[in-house]
Amino acid sequence: MPIQVKRLGRTFFAEVSGLDLRQHLSDDTIAEIRHAWMEHGVLLFRDQQFTTEEQIAYSKRFGKLEHNLRDDNAFVAPLGNLNPDGSIRDPNSDQSKFLRANQLWHSDSAYFAAPAMLSFLNGRVIDPNMPDGHTQWADMQAAYEDLPQSKRDAIEDLVAMHDMQTSRSVTGRVLDPEERQKWPPVYHRMTRIHEETGKKIMYVGSQATQVNGWDVPKSKKLFVELMQHATQEKYIYDHKWTQWDFVCWDNRRVVHRQRPFDEAKWPRVVFRSVVEGTGPDVIEGKGVNEFERFQALHGDRARILAAAE
Ligand SMILES: [Fe+2]
Repeated sequence: MPIQVKRLGRTFFAEVSGLDLRQHLSDDTIAEIRHAWMEHGVLLFRDQQFTTEEQIAYSKRFGKLEHNLRDDNAFVAPLGNLNPDGSIRDPNSDQSKFLRANQLWHSDSAYFAAPAMLSFLNGRVIDPNMPDGHTQWADMQAAYEDLPQSKRDAIEDLVAMHDMQTSRSVTGRVLDPEERQKWPPVYHRMTRIHEETGKKIMYVGSQATQVNGWDVPKSKKLFVELMQHATQEKYIYDHKWTQWDFVCWDNRRVVHRQRPFDEAKWPRVVFRSVVEGTGPDVIEGKGVNEFERFQALHGDRARILAAAE
């Protein structure tokens, strides 16, 4: 049976209905979901009451999963404001400051040389009375396509350094020496070529630090200009959470941010899993054609996926 897909945003973001993702889905259904995903960038499934194991099993259908940043044995991370005993964590704690960087526009795992491909969030602890704490996504593909040709040409071959410390500096968190060693700065193309659709999409976010060959002020000016353009209301979809919402997005196409909420008052925990990236998009300072690499890796399957567009 074909899946039901309804576009909710202007250029992206769709709701998929009629599926219980805890059940084992056929390869055809997974392929249909992937087609919808490539077309809409972000997919929302309501009422998916996953256990951790079920979320892992579903996520793995789309690729190899990233380990949690802080636990090499886990593939699902609880992101929220609760301590392990269920009490609300001190909003001024180190961990709270670390996670608050999620309130800045970003693409997941931009601090890895091979940044995340796909991310999944399941809203397990969401209070129906919480007035805020939404998540927003911005369509970097639509924003890129609306840039003047001169600007697209100007960023075509630029490579930028991305650094986890850059976004944490905004929230008052300094990486300790062990973290600094574990997550050094990495490099990404500013115009990436989407592996599955072949579309060009700009890649900028809160960890972008410096364009190769440029000084920091000139680099920052460009990052701010591009992000101001990309986060105009017309490119954003704002999602108010209901418990057990399951939102899945393509980090190669969109950026996202969590909106603030009263962290001392409302318990809020979303469980995240991530499909890791195919490989670095910059090797020895040069941009990789990610579309060609993906086609070579996946052959016919890649062509089927690309045909979704
Ligand atoms: Fe994120």
